[in-house]
Amino acid sequence: MTAIPTPPAPSAAGASSASASASGSTPYGTLPVATSPALRRPLSLPRLAEMHARGEKIVMLTAYDATFAAMADASGVECLLVGDSLGMVCQGLASTVGVSLEAMRYHTECVSRGVGRSQGTAWLIADLPFGTYQQSREQALASATVLMQAGAHMVKLEGGGWTADTVRFLVERGIPVCAHLGLTPQTVHALGGYRVQGRGDEAAARLRADALALQDAGAAMLVLEMVPAALAAALTRELTRCATIGIGAGKDTAGQVLVMHDMLGMNLGKMAKFVRNFMADNRDGVAGAMRAYVSAVKDGSFPVDAQHAW
Ligand code: KIV
Repeated sequence: MTAIPTPPAPSAAGASSASASASGSTPYGTLPVATSPALRRPLSLPRLAEMHARGEKIVMLTAYDATFAAMADASGVECLLVGDSLGMVCQGLASTVGVSLEAMRYHTECVSRGVGRSQGTAWLIADLPFGTYQQSREQALASATVLMQAGAHMVKLEGGGWTADTVRFLVERGIPVCAHLGLTPQTVHALGGYRVQGRGDEAAARLRADALALQDAGAAMLVLEMVPAALAAALTRELTRCATIGIGAGKDTAGQVLVMHDMLGMNLGKMAKFVRNFMADNRDGVAGAMRAYVSAVKDGSFPVDAQHAW
C-alpha cells in the first residue's frame, strides 16, 4: 500500500490576498488560490491502471461542489465522481431519473474548479444522466463532450451489453468511460426498487457477460453496485483491463465508491447496509472523515463483507 502524504492545513499565505479580510480570515469557505504545486502526482488513466495492476485499492467518492471536492482531493481521494445522485442529495428529487445534462455540467464545473484550487490531483468522473446517451452513439458523444468541456476526465454511463457499442464509440474518440452494472439507479423503476442484482446463476452469468462486453469495448472502470460479494470478487479477478469499483459489492473489488453525504452520516432516511458513517468516532470533522475513508479503503478495513455486503 502506498502511504498518502497528509497535506498541510491551508495557511493564510495560501489564501488569496484579494479575498482575505483584514483579520486574515477568508469568508464563505474561500478556497486557497491554485498557486502551490501539487503535493501528489495527478491521477491519470495510466496511473489508475498501474494501481489496478499492482492491487492497490482505488478510492472514489462523489462530489458535487467546489469546497467538498477540494477537501476530498486534499484528503487523498483519488477519483471524484460527480454522480447524478446529485438529483437526490442536492436537488431533492425522488430518483436520479430527472437529472438534466445542464445540472451535470454545472456541478462538474464546480467540482473541477474545487479540485483545481486544492491539490489538483483527483481524477474527475461525471455521470451521463438519464436520456442523454440511450438514443444513439452520436447523442452520447454530444452529451459526453459537454461534461468533458466542463472539466471531467471520464464519463460514466449505466447499463449492460447494449451500451458496449456506445462505450467503444466514445473511447475511440478519446473519452475515457466508466461503466456501471448491478443496481443501476436510472433504471430503478424497471428493476422494481433498490435491490441486490446478479443473484442466482442466470443473473450472475448475464452480469458477467455484460462486464466482459464492456471491458472489450474499452471501459477502463466499472462500478458494481449492490452485487453479491462473491460475484464481484470473481469479476474483479477476471477483468484485468477494467478496474471494478464497488458500492455494496464487497471488499474484493479494485476500488470502492460511496456517496459523500452517506459517508458523512448525512442521510435522513435509513442508511443503506453498504454505507459506513465515517463521521462517527471522528474528531477531525469532514476532512478527518474523508481521510478515515481513504485509509479504510486502502488498508482493506472497509467494507467488511459480513456487515456491508451480500
Ligand atoms: O450517482 C452516483 O452517485 C453513483 C454512485 C452511487 C456510484 O452512480
